[in-house]
Amino acid sequence: MERTFAIIKPDAVERKITGKILEKIEAAGFTIVGMKRILLSKEQAMGFYYVHKERPFYDELCSYMARSPVVVLAIEKANAIADWRELMGATNPADAEEGTLRKEFGISLGENSVHGSDSPESAAYEIPYFFNALELV
Ligand code: RTP
Ligand code: MG
Repeated sequence: MERTFAIIKPDAVERKITGKILEKIEAAGFTIVGMKRILLSKEQAMGFYYVHKERPFYDELCSYMARSPVVVLAIEKANAIADWRELMGATNPADAEEGTLRKEFGISLGENSVHGSDSPESAAYEIPYFFNALELV
């Protein structure tokens, strides 16, 4: 079993498609082991996405992530990290494969509805950024 970290981003929570996305996560065989709805401060978003701090889109990305609530998730299955990236689809919804969440729900490169850890190292940073051990069951 492997765990990864996911976010249902502001554009999706605002459009009230949280339930649709959760349904697809469970249908794909993931177990939700942690979940909460939170409003990030911009500083918290900056800490979360610090790997992108030199990128031109960093400020815009962090403002967007802090503009309204998100749902953060720890999800578990065999091969969870790669399988969640596959279910999410390409970063730009315009490039995402049919059947992926970003293809179905994403609005734009910036507002692409979901986040997922891209490696075991990023999952190991991201899960405890939001969840303590007692919140993962
Ligand atoms: P994420 O981290 O959110 O799961 O997305 P990702 O791995 O597919 O893409 P990444 O390169 O890590 O970029 C993080 C998020 O930044 C926004 N972005 N904006 N305007 C731009 O050029 C641009 N490029 C990326 C997207 O919201 C992307 O998900
Ligand atoms: Mg990323």
